[in-house]
This record gives sequence, structure tokens and C-alpha cells, in this order.
Amino acid sequence: MAEIKQADGVKDWLEQRLAVSKLVKVLATEYWIPKNINFLWAMGMILAIMFALLIVSGLFLLMYYKPDANLAFDSVNYTIMSEVAYGWLFRHIHGVAASVIFLVIYIHMFTGIYYNSYKAGREMIWISGVLLFGIFSAEAFSGYMLPWGQMSYWAATVITNIFGQVPIIGPELVIWIRGDYVVADATLTRFFMLHVVLLPLVIIKLIAVHFYALRIPHVNNQDGEVLDFDKEAEKFLAGNKKESKVIPFWPGFISKDFFVLGVFLIFFFYLVFYHYNFAMDPVNFDPANSMQTPAHIYPEWYFLWSYEVLRGFFFSSDLGLIAFGIANVVFFLMPFLDKNPFVGPTSKRPLFKWWFWIFIIDLMVLTLYGKLPPTGANAYIGFVASITFLALFALLPFISKKEKNLMGGVK
Ligand code: HEM
Repeated sequence: MAEIKQADGVKDWLEQRLAVSKLVKVLATEYWIPKNINFLWAMGMILAIMFALLIVSGLFLLMYYKPDANLAFDSVNYTIMSEVAYGWLFRHIHGVAASVIFLVIYIHMFTGIYYNSYKAGREMIWISGVLLFGIFSAEAFSGYMLPWGQMSYWAATVITNIFGQVPIIGPELVIWIRGDYVVADATLTRFFMLHVVLLPLVIIKLIAVHFYALRIPHVNNQDGEVLDFDKEAEKFLAGNKKESKVIPFWPGFISKDFFVLGVFLIFFFYLVFYHYNFAMDPVNFDPANSMQTPAHIYPEWYFLWSYEVLRGFFFSSDLGLIAFGIANVVFFLMPFLDKNPFVGPTSKRPLFKWWFWIFIIDLMVLTLYGKLPPTGANAYIGFVASITFLALFALLPFISKKEKNLMGGVK
């Protein structure tokens, strides 16, 4: 009997080895990556790893966090931070990862824009990416509420208030979202549900869609060259490795990804151990107090640009809300607003290169001024930067059409 059991164990073990070696074979012979790509193409993989790290650290935090307006603040700031062994480490990993993931998302998005990876059959990759950005924003916002500090409370008040400006149903909508007349315990528990269950599930599904959308067009490359992956792979397999323009995902490409990931993780853990405070607002170390508004309310750094678009139209809150709404959906339209079919680095596009760099500078100005009080000259600078943001997207179809003619309608 014992011998039969042992034989079964060996069989299982062998079958598992076989499954792993089959997977490695598939990755090594069926998934091909262009040679001509740089470290910026590792950002997607870093994002996937950071998301996994957020889930693992979040699960540890969940063991002691209390989703109750009377208990939440202490459960985070006393229980997790000073009573639970290594609770501080998991909190710092979670907080820093939540902030840094946005830095990587922005680099990943702007790499996509820079190399025109949203065009020519890659629209679904782009659209699923923008959806991921939106859901990640909701995930970060709902998570920011959970420590129930002053900034959690007042940021939630300001953001939920925005829905009050929706015509006709606005005031009812705000109450429905909050589950109360003001941000209160019911708001905390529903945002807790969103943060730990619903939104992570949606993110996992969207990541699967994003990866699936990548299978057919494959990733772009630094020259935007259209590659015949089957032909190039044949060359590689026939031994013409130098001539072939692709390499197998396993082990060639993944080892490059792991190298970039390694460098990134050194930077990440340096922040976790030595500069975790950059991801935590000092005001949020005061417990939520509905009777005392902080002198100055602002969101986390990664929302500052859109917050500034909202505030930029300081003379009309309705216009600000419309601009904010546009700013949050306009990225979806990128593949349709850009009328030049050229795919390649932005440096090769005579007009779009100006568009791209003005856009980056404008986003930086919006981010910078989003943190400052909207008074005096700040208000006017914020207004000009907001108008510039909208104008850039409004002008894109015309600029890109003109550029297409200038370039003679190439590729
Ligand atoms: C957690 C979120 C995300 C994950 C895990 C993820 C993952 C990936 C991976 C692994 C790749 C292939 C390798 C690479 O180019 O990096 C990729 C490509 C791509 N992603 Fe994402 N991504 C995410 C978010 C986004 C966002 C927010 C956008 C844009 C709004 C986006 C747009 C793209 C585009 C356009 C490509 C194709 C790049 C090319 O063809 O060269 N992704 N993504």
C-alpha cells in the first residue's frame, strides 16, 4: 500500500515537472519579443509585480485593520504600526507601492504615447490600459480613505461633493455614494468593500484583457517596425540568431526584464526603509474630525494634475467640473484623435514632437500648482495650464493631419 502511494507521489511530481517544462517550452518557442526595445518595455512587468506586492502586503494589513469609523485610525496607527510584529513594514510596503505604481503607470503610458503604441491595431491594448488607469485611481482613492485620518476624511468629502454638481440628481447622488448625509461610517465600509474586493477583482480581469490584447499585434519596438514574427522566429530557430529581429520570451527576454526589475526593487526598498514618508501626508496622522477642515486640502501627487484642471476654472465651478470630466476620459480618445498613421518614436514626427513635450511640461505645471493654494498668480497659472491641457487634445487631430501630409502619408 505504502509503495503504491509512493509511486503515485512520484507520478504526480513527474507530471508537475512535465507541465512546467511544457510551459517553458511554449514560452521559449511560441512567444517572441522584438530585439529592438529598451528598458521602458519592462514597465508592464514591473506593474504586474507591484500589483502582486500590493495584494500580498494588503492581505497582511487586512488581518488587523478595522473598517469602523471609531476604530480604523487606531487599528492602523497603533495596532499595525507599533503592536504587530513587522506591521510597520507591511504598511510601508503597501503605502510606497501604491504611490510608486502611479509613477510606473505614468512612465508606461508616456512610453506608449512616445512610441505611438496606441495605433495600428493596438487600440485595444491602449483602451484596456486607460481603463486600468481609471480603476487603479479608484483603488488608490478608496484605499486612502481607510486610515480615517484628516486628509482621508476631507479628500473623501471634496471628491464625493463633486458628484453634487451633476444636473438634477446631483444632491441625491452624493448621499447615495456616501450612504449618509456626510462622509461617515457607512462611507468608510463601502469604500472598504470597493478597495479590498470589487476593484481588485476588476483590475485582475482587466490585466488579463490587457495581456490578451497584446498577443496579436505583439509589443511595438523602438522604430515602430512592422515585424513578421513567424518568419523572424523561424530564422532564430534555424540558427540565424544574429539576423533574426526577435528573441524568445524565455529565457532571453525575461532575463532582461528581471534585470530591470532588480534595479527597480533596489530603488523601491530604499524608499520603503528610508523615505516612506513621501507617500504619507503628515495631516493624515491626525484622526478624522468632521468639525475641523484642514487649512489646505489636496490629493496625493498622482491626482494633482487632474485636481488642478478641476480648480483651474476658478471663476466657474461648472466649467471646472466639465474640464475635469474631459481630462479623465480624453486619454481613451488618443488612437482616434491622432490622425497620422505613422508609428515610431516621437522624435521622428515633426509636429507631434512639440505636442508631446508641451504636454509633458503642462502636466508637470498642473501637478506643481495642484499642490499650492489657488490664490493670486497661482490661480491664473492653473487656469492657463488647464486651458493648455484641453487645447492640446482639441488641436491634436488638426496637427496630426497636417503632419501626415508633411510626411507624405508615410507608414
Ligand atoms: C497595472 C497596470 C498595467 C499592467 C500590469 C500592464 C502590463 C503591460 C505589459 C506586461 C505590457 C507588455 C510589455 C510592455 O510594453 O511593458 C504592456 C504593454 C502596453 N501597455 Fe500596459 N499595463 C498596465 C497599464 C497600462 C496603462 C495604464 C496603459 C495606458 C494607458 C497601458 C498601455 C500599454 C500599451 C500601449 C502597451 C503596448 C506597448 C507596446 O506595444 O510597445 N498599460 N502592458
